[in-house]
Amino acid sequence: MYSILLLADLGLMNTLFMSIIFLVIIWYLKWRRSRQHLYEAAKKVGLTDCQKELPILGHSLYYVGDAERIMRNLHYVSSKSSATPVGFWLAHRLFFCLNTPEQMEAVLSSPKCLEKDDLYRFSKPLGGNGLFSLDVKTWKVHRKLIMPSLNQRILDKFVDVFVERSNVLINDVLSKKVGELFDVEESITVTSLEIITQTAMGMKCADSESIRVLFERITRAFEILYMRMFNVHLHFDFIFNLTKLSNEQKYIVDFFKNFIRSVYYEKKEEFLQKKEKVEEAQIDECKQRKVFLDHLIEVSQLTDEEIINEVQTFMIGGSDTSATVVSFVLICLGIFPEYQQKVYDEIVDVVGLERNFECTDIPKLKYLEKFVKETMRLFPIGPFIIRKVTEDMEVDGHVLPKDSGLFLCIFTIHRNEKYYPNPMKFDPERFSPEEIAKRHPYAYLPFSAGPRNCIGMKFGMIEVKTIVATVARRYFIETSFKSVEDVRLKQSFILKSCLSFPIKLTERVAS
Ligand code: HEM
Repeated sequence: MYSILLLADLGLMNTLFMSIIFLVIIWYLKWRRSRQHLYEAAKKVGLTDCQKELPILGHSLYYVGDAERIMRNLHYVSSKSSATPVGFWLAHRLFFCLNTPEQMEAVLSSPKCLEKDDLYRFSKPLGGNGLFSLDVKTWKVHRKLIMPSLNQRILDKFVDVFVERSNVLINDVLSKKVGELFDVEESITVTSLEIITQTAMGMKCADSESIRVLFERITRAFEILYMRMFNVHLHFDFIFNLTKLSNEQKYIVDFFKNFIRSVYYEKKEEFLQKKEKVEEAQIDECKQRKVFLDHLIEVSQLTDEEIINEVQTFMIGGSDTSATVVSFVLICLGIFPEYQQKVYDEIVDVVGLERNFECTDIPKLKYLEKFVKETMRLFPIGPFIIRKVTEDMEVDGHVLPKDSGLFLCIFTIHRNEKYYPNPMKFDPERFSPEEIAKRHPYAYLPFSAGPRNCIGMKFGMIEVKTIVATVARRYFIETSFKSVEDVRLKQSFILKSCLSFPIKLTERVAS
């Protein structure tokens, strides 16, 4: 009797097991069929031959590793392919590398490629669900609301903050490092974080130590998120959540978000109280410096959480970016003393040696601007940006199918002989008006381009020029790097130097 029951049980188990296998096979075949357009496009366009395509994993093993390897291999794949797109599989996702200005123009100006790729979803915990990663429908509304908060009049008022923090940088921080070789990135990022905290949230940081802690945590969170993007097994939440990285990320993000939340609710309270008084007294609000957060509270079309996310995006998008550009510029000034002299002479001509920089001085620093642009050509901090195709589109006679991802290989274009003869030669004159006019406008994309370009482009450029001019007027800069080629690179979400940013400062004697 007992063995009959056992046999019946086994029969039931077998049937159940077979049914599950059957359902999985049906699901898999359906899933394959829904992706037929991707397989066909991959075949037609052609896949990279840098690594053999493996079942399930595709070409993902080629990108497993540290940030330097990821950067090197992406550059290799994109520069090896000729002028046509080349595809690769990251597990089940199909990507194409694009590497000509014509392809960039087609993609960046198309409404079919405004969506950020799914790989960027890992940036949301740190960067917030703001402009950078929002879905297109919400992004359009937010971008329109936010644009006026960065108009020229507001930016001009921010220059006082840039100048004040740059002065603190040279007087209180860099003055203690004179004569020694040190990594300048941390000091510059702290300055940049102070600037964005003051201009985005209106919060003056009395305590540089807490900003330093914030800097260290944000740097670590960047590393974690980039590791997650390219290590396919960490894409699955259930695996990532089992790792120590997940706890570390949660701790950092909670710390950062709570900091923004507390400032936000304080400001909102202040705003509600002030609103009553303003209605009574009609105070001239132009006399006050309105910051990004004030603007978002005032337009009052976004929810509390939406505003907190946008502030988070600005804090991240507006600090490490500018700071890294400044760090690369200082390194390049150190490598090329003859150009540094020209930068210095121009600063002295325009501003002199004593007085503070003013907003009207910054556009007059034309040679400095060329120098910064040439630095961003060789070191674009967004070397490979990733978009998602939301409708089939044709590029260079190839159909790039819906749901594929596009790597826009800006770094590869910036270092391509065809657009920049002798590309590794550092030459600020490439950015004289005559030379710019000779090039395709999409051959230079440090801030990306099209409707979803960097919204902080002007802010970033003025900030970078102000910090660099303040440092270069006071100090002569040297570095241990001898050439551009010495600067080994990695992509840690944004482009970084593997060997940090070592510089040595000598106080200039006023001549
Ligand atoms: C020199 C410094 C900077 C550089 C080189 C830079 C570069 C970039 C790049 C390459 C993108 C990606 C665009 C794309 O995916 O197509 C971007 C987006 C963005 N940047 Fe910047 N950025 C800088 C400074 C700033 C600053 C100072 C802010 C804020 C004040 C900022 C805020 C943003 C935001 C919010 C986005 C997302 C825009 C959108 O999707 O609508 N950036 N930036």
